[in-house]
Amino acid sequence: MARILVTGGAGFIGSHLVEFLLQQGHEVLCLDNYFTGSKENLMHLRDNPRLEMIRHDVVNPIMLEVDQIFHLACPASPVHYQYNPVKTIKTNVLGTLHMLGLAKRVKARILLASTSEIYGDPLEHPQQEKYWGNVNCIGPRSCYDEGKRVAETLMMDYHRQNRVDIRIARIFNTYGPRMALNDGRVVSNFIVQALSGKEITIYGEGQQTRSFCYVSDLVEGLTRLMNCEKQTEPVNLGNPEEFTIMELARKVLTLTGSTAPLVYKPLPPDDPVRRKPDISRAQKKLGWQPTVPLDAGLKATIPYFAGKLKG
Ligand SMILES: NC(=O)c1ccc[n+]([C@@H]2O[C@H](COP(=O)([O-])OP(=O)(O)OC[C@H]3O[C@@H](n4cnc5c(N)ncnc54)[C@H](O)[C@@H]3O)[C@@H](O)[C@H]2O)c1
Repeated sequence: MARILVTGGAGFIGSHLVEFLLQQGHEVLCLDNYFTGSKENLMHLRDNPRLEMIRHDVVNPIMLEVDQIFHLACPASPVHYQYNPVKTIKTNVLGTLHMLGLAKRVKARILLASTSEIYGDPLEHPQQEKYWGNVNCIGPRSCYDEGKRVAETLMMDYHRQNRVDIRIARIFNTYGPRMALNDGRVVSNFIVQALSGKEITIYGEGQQTRSFCYVSDLVEGLTRLMNCEKQTEPVNLGNPEEFTIMELARKVLTLTGSTAPLVYKPLPPDDPVRRKPDISRAQKKLGWQPTVPLDAGLKATIPYFAGKLKG
């Protein structure tokens, strides 16, 4: 049994990770400022004596005794990370700095939840970890993209300079129950719009592609990465199956039985045209690949949103 800190543990991915780690028998410290996460996401685990909840903002340092740190604290959806861009940068830069300082002091292994957004609007397809990306440093998404890029730099420098034991997961689009209703990302948007019979918003012509990873697959990948023997270089974690946004909309309409109409809006600035992970490194080094097909993942996610909409 290890004592494991999960920052951002009350969020969408974090809450699934906390649940998984508890099931594995670990002691889990969940640290969150509840900006986008909520206690409700962990309510079903509140009686577990191995779970401790800490209200804390990672822009401030904290002293704890832990063996491992999963550093997830950061709003992930554009609506949330653009709400206060300066705070998003602080969370990524100061937050990661403080978690690395902690990891260094207590000799804990630390995993950063980085993102496919570090590839920006990629000029290579699919994206391999060795690709450096095509990122606009002054656009509305930069607070997140560049924030995560600096976070990765900090991880590598703490490793080179201080021998901190690091892992970097580059997470691609992930979906599942416990995404926030107002998350604003495509899967939750489409499901909520379809279930409430509202218009389904397609940006551009819907021909841009994305790959969607179900959250249980991602949690498996994150824990394998954390526990593999040596993997300092970043690892892509995502589902390489590629769908156009239009295909996703049609699937959601079919699975919800909705007749909501499609409406088209202009593409937001810096919205990537294609995004698909090359996961050969994860397959080779972690023996990991996603197992949940999009239809099955959507079927597991739709009832969650239906319940939320009922209140
Ligand atoms: N969901 C995805 O598709 C995806 C893709 C790539 C990367 N990621 C990364 O995974 C991590 C988790 O994403 P998510 O989808 O669960 O998002 P989320 O917004 O649901 O979770 C983020 C959590 O971090 C907390 N948080 C935010 N700022 C904080 C701060 N300053 N101090 C303490 N806690 C803070 C929030 O309250 C929330 O509980 C993020 O780092 C995100 O960048 C997610």
